[in-house]
Amino acid sequence: MAQKVAVACDHAGRELKNAIAELLVARGFEVEDFGTHGNDSVDYPDFASEVARRVGSGKAAFGVLVCGTGIGMSIVANKYRGVRAAVCHNEFEARATRQHNDANVLCLGERVVGMGLGVAIADAFFSTAFEGGRHLRRVQKIADAEAENAR
Ligand code: RB5
Repeated sequence: MAQKVAVACDHAGRELKNAIAELLVARGFEVEDFGTHGNDSVDYPDFASEVARRVGSGKAAFGVLVCGTGIGMSIVANKYRGVRAAVCHNEFEARATRQHNDANVLCLGERVVGMGLGVAIADAFFSTAFEGGRHLRRVQKIADAEAENAR
């Protein structure tokens, strides 16, 4: 069965979000698109929360969030249990955060990386597996920190 990827953006990330959604469909993922679909100015936390809930609950395997910088989206997404969101500016970061952090939400700034690089970063992220091993212990410690803060 195809892995699900939940995607969303605000008004500053729509073009890149749409291009990444197309890439993911072409690569055999099932894409759930939570918008935004129009040109109106919207609040990025509303969209980040939708995707983070899907990933945190296991309803989607991965998420993609695009805003102007990627930063606001990542701040919100990382408030959700089970979400490891990473803002990436290049393909090296995208590969490294999959290999080492098992990142499950990719955050991008369309105003920072633009279209071509943005799609290339997503391609790198979705082509790279978690390495496990010593990194698994460290990722488990992220979950421990989350649990400690939930108490
Ligand atoms: C919208 O102007 C902008 O603030 C938003 O896209 C994002 O960059 C926030 O982090």
